[in-house]
Amino acid sequence: MLVAQSLVKTFNGTHAVDHVSFTLKEGELFGFLGPNGAGKTTTIRMLTGLLTPTSGEVWIGPHSMQKSPKEAKRRLGYLPDKPLVYEKLTGREYIRFMAELYDMPDDVLEQAERHLEEFELKDAADQMISGYSHGMKQKIALIGQLTHRPEVLLLDEPTVGLDPKGARTLRDILRGLCSQGVTILISTHLLPIAEMLCDRVGIMEKGHLIALGTLAELQAEYSTSAGLEDLFLQVTDPGQRGGEA
Ligand SMILES: Nc1ncnc2c1ncn2[C@@H]1O[C@H](COP(=O)(O)OP(=O)(O)O)[C@@H](O)[C@H]1O
Ligand SMILES: [Mg+2]
Repeated sequence: MLVAQSLVKTFNGTHAVDHVSFTLKEGELFGFLGPNGAGKTTTIRMLTGLLTPTSGEVWIGPHSMQKSPKEAKRRLGYLPDKPLVYEKLTGREYIRFMAELYDMPDDVLEQAERHLEEFELKDAADQMISGYSHGMKQKIALIGQLTHRPEVLLLDEPTVGLDPKGARTLRDILRGLCSQGVTILISTHLLPIAEMLCDRVGIMEKGHLIALGTLAELQAEYSTSAGLEDLFLQVTDPGQRGGEA
């Protein structure tokens, strides 16, 4: 459903992303992990088509982002790390605007109303977005992205600014989408979030994808029963590395 094929991005001769490859299956919830500066956002921006790779290719289903960007992008939803929302609209106006932009049927708005309720945004839905907290802006931006029913959803650090309850709601909503076949990539530097959310994880460090698999697979690979947090430290510490991923 989504293929990152040997993606490279260099900025001024430095490799921000260095030959990163992975394939996400339909309905998968994939955690894209790594410390700040590891190259997560740069990779995600290449997946969205906003940033042109130095080399490599992105596939959304059968569509190459490089060769048929319109077809590829139509299937994507993207929540940037700093969500862009129209501050002068109310939350409800924004959602209606997004739905109309993509010429979606009205039942999309009913679904959006349910998400507003789940995210406890109903009371704020008729207030201007400029007064929203960062977490509220993320929630409304996500609901807006869902109005065009993307097949692939890319979320860059969506849990920053969410309280634990908001994070649980996010998980439930994402799980629901996955069960409908939506493929989701979510980047985070917060490992407990990834452990709670994801089927499979990829760990980035200094532009390289250094580990890829389910928690059980990574535990087997590194001969440990450690949780993701300890495993992460082990994987990112070359002194203890059991094998190259
Ligand atoms: N537009 C840019 N110009 C130059 N360097 C950049 C640019 N964007 C990102 N970088 C660098 O690329 C590296 C990876 O950054 P980023 O993808 O934002 O990491 P992450 O999202 O994992 O925190 C960092 O060293 C960052 O400084
Ligand atoms: Mg980032």
